[in-house]
Amino acid sequence: MHAGAILFLSSRQELLRDKVAVITGGANGIGAATARLFASNGARLVIADIDDESGARLEAEVGGPAVCRYVHCDVGSEADIVRAVRTAVSEFGRLDVMHNNAGVLNGRHPSPSISSMEAAELDFLYAVNVRGAALGIKHASRVMIEQHVQGSILCTASVSAMVAGLALHPYTITKHAILGLVKTCALELAHYGIRVNCITPNGVLTDLLCSVGRHLRHLEIRDEKSCPGSENCEDLRKMLAPEDVAKAALFLASDDSKYISGHSLVIDGSFSAGAVGGLNVFKGLQRGEIEFVP
Ligand SMILES: NC(=O)c1ccc[n+]([C@@H]2O[C@H](COP(=O)([O-])OP(=O)(O)OC[C@H]3O[C@@H](n4cnc5c(N)ncnc54)[C@H](O)[C@@H]3O)[C@@H](O)[C@H]2O)c1
Repeated sequence: MHAGAILFLSSRQELLRDKVAVITGGANGIGAATARLFASNGARLVIADIDDESGARLEAEVGGPAVCRYVHCDVGSEADIVRAVRTAVSEFGRLDVMHNNAGVLNGRHPSPSISSMEAAELDFLYAVNVRGAALGIKHASRVMIEQHVQGSILCTASVSAMVAGLALHPYTITKHAILGLVKTCALELAHYGIRVNCITPNGVLTDLLCSVGRHLRHLEIRDEKSCPGSENCEDLRKMLAPEDVAKAALFLASDDSKYISGHSLVIDGSFSAGAVGGLNVFKGLQRGEIEFVP
């Protein structure tokens, strides 16, 4: 190997060296990309998910039980969340990062209208997307406070936490709730030096997003260009990748963001900065469809 390459490898920063993280919904998609990036940055991990096959495969891929443990955890169950958090402590001795990432887009009874929305659908999304994240914060913060760890807690929100119309009502409602959850917990836990933030991505081609096709007959997500929202991103047209979202999670998990708390880190290539589906004067100027007269 070239001497320069050795220097480069040995000086590569491991942003989560000696840290222990739990990632819910970590077996696939954004959570799996985050697990890989956290492990390559020196973290030891607990992947908590309901997909046992993918979880076990990822545990082996990122280094096996010395580095990563998969635990079956349905975030709808408080006992499962407690078990996931306890696994971090029993296997790796501490908890520094809790990433409440598990989420669902729809349940079994999706409805296109508020007037026909089933209470069971709202309850299901609330249980996974909001209650699961709130209980994750509860049990992670207990351990961090006990251990005097100034940890970092993350949740995965969505651009649906800021704008309506990208998903059905229960998803939009529950993702908006994540912003409130993060703010109120950040305010309380700042006393202990524990930070609480969320990552707020636009559409990412994961199983979750592709499941949209099951419910919308005329929407086929074939490639990055046919994803709703991506046409508004102009130069950032390329579809957001799970790895891009993982990098934002790494920043918020690491000490590089040590004074950032109560924050929503939006990862959407400016999508939510404009009037969604409405007037975009810059697009019109760039295409020559409208002219600026000084
Ligand atoms: N994909 C997108 O376009 C997008 C955009 C913004 C935000 N998000 C959010 O990102 C997060 C991850 O989604 P993704 O796109 O990677 O989806 P994904 O479907 O690829 O992964 C979600 C993971 O969560 C797990 N999971 C589902 N229910 C669970 C439960 N009750 N308990 C524990 N684990 C459970 C699944 O088994 C899966 O491994 C979600 O919170 C989602 O709302 C996704």
